[in-house]
Amino acid sequence: MSDRIKTGIEGYDNLLGGGYIPESINLIAGCSGSGKTLFTLSYLLNGAEKFGQKAVYITLEETMSQIKRDCKTIGLDLDSVGEEMLALCDMSSLRANVISTQDELESEESPLRLDNLFEFIKINYSDCVRVGLDSIVPLAIAYHDEQIFRSELFRFMMALKKMGATTLFTTEISYASDDISRFGMEDFLSDSVTLLKMTEEWGRQIKVHKMRGSDHVKNFVDYDISSNGLKVMYK
Ligand SMILES: Nc1ncnc2c1ncn2[C@@H]1O[C@H](COP(=O)(O)OP(=O)(O)O)[C@@H](O)[C@H]1O
Ligand SMILES: [Mg+2]
Repeated sequence: MSDRIKTGIEGYDNLLGGGYIPESINLIAGCSGSGKTLFTLSYLLNGAEKFGQKAVYITLEETMSQIKRDCKTIGLDLDSVGEEMLALCDMSSLRANVISTQDELESEESPLRLDNLFEFIKINYSDCVRVGLDSIVPLAIAYHDEQIFRSELFRFMMALKKMGATTLFTTEISYASDDISRFGMEDFLSDSVTLLKMTEEWGRQIKVHKMRGSDHVKNFVDYDISSNGLKVMYK
């Protein structure tokens, strides 16, 4: 299908029925080490390299230098395209270094507040076709009221869509759980939800849990992470 935003990840576009819907919000949920960061950066780098679409990656957890090193081991060279095609935005230190107290975290000026984060993205990256946000978990700490976090997250997602971006964001779930979200709501806000599972019995398995307004492959399919990159075993 030509009206899709192809992730360029082998096999994954086939699961999605061609790729993501343009100007949609897409969630990848998985436990630590399941490949969320590598999926996100593959999506963004492929966009810049293969499809000429500007992209921005925002890390809220790991540092950019650590991520660059990890990506290299699977053959993803984030420096192979310039900053103007793939902007790498390191916000990982915000929580640890810059902001310390809960009051500061929740203050109106806090850069972790969703309205401030959106303004930052709009000012700097409004021409980006692809946005990657990894992960949303640290954003919740700027809100002690879950209802407010939920409504702010909804507003944030709508604003990204309106900006014209096709967004991929990640959320972390625990290893053995059957959950598809961390906060029990980010899956509702998303147009698509992809689950990355790791089990002793089955190894790495991926499933497109939901894809709004589109048919898609509904069962679990094997995927692999190796020095050759990411591969979803589906033709
Ligand atoms: N070169 C590699 N060869 C094989 N597996 C790798 C390689 N690099 C990373 N991995 C796998 O990918 C995982 C990290 O992926 P990542 O996207 O950072 O996970 P997440 O963001 O979900 O925590 C590692 O735990 C490891 O299992
Ligand atoms: Mg990660």
